[in-house]
Amino acid sequence: MSSVSIIHGPNLNLLGKREPEIYGSTTFEEVLDQLKSSFPSSEFSYAQSNIEGEIVTLIQEHGFKSDYIILNAAAYTHTSIAIADAVAAVPAKVIGIHISNIYKREEDRHVDLLAKYCEACLFGFGLDGYRLAMEYITRHENEK
Ligand code: DQA
Repeated sequence: MSSVSIIHGPNLNLLGKREPEIYGSTTFEEVLDQLKSSFPSSEFSYAQSNIEGEIVTLIQEHGFKSDYIILNAAAYTHTSIAIADAVAAVPAKVIGIHISNIYKREEDRHVDLLAKYCEACLFGFGLDGYRLAMEYITRHENEK
């Protein structure tokens, strides 16, 4: 049984109604329900915040109790040394994720300050990326 915390940054609470042409029209609650039924041997927790310091605190809290964090820090990915430091500080394996392909978008989004502290990163797979991250985690857990 692996424990997986999904942590979301700003504006991701609007998934399903925010720019659906980029982020899809599915809510994250629906995605989470699908993950829970597809990966019954993982224990999930989910948290979202629009506030940078709260995301640091969430990473600190979950990073010492969960095996993995799937982290979409949203726009803070491109700006936050504080969140990068939190990712580096915790023992949990962090999978960085972006729904869109950030390298195909505006130049400001091409900077990822977190990636070098992550175990792996996914971007551009849409909401499917969360399932792909879980497949990676499950394979790793089974190989232990
Ligand atoms: C995002 C990409 C970021 O550039 C953006 O600010 C987001 C979402 C993504 O999942 O594609 O809010 O992290």
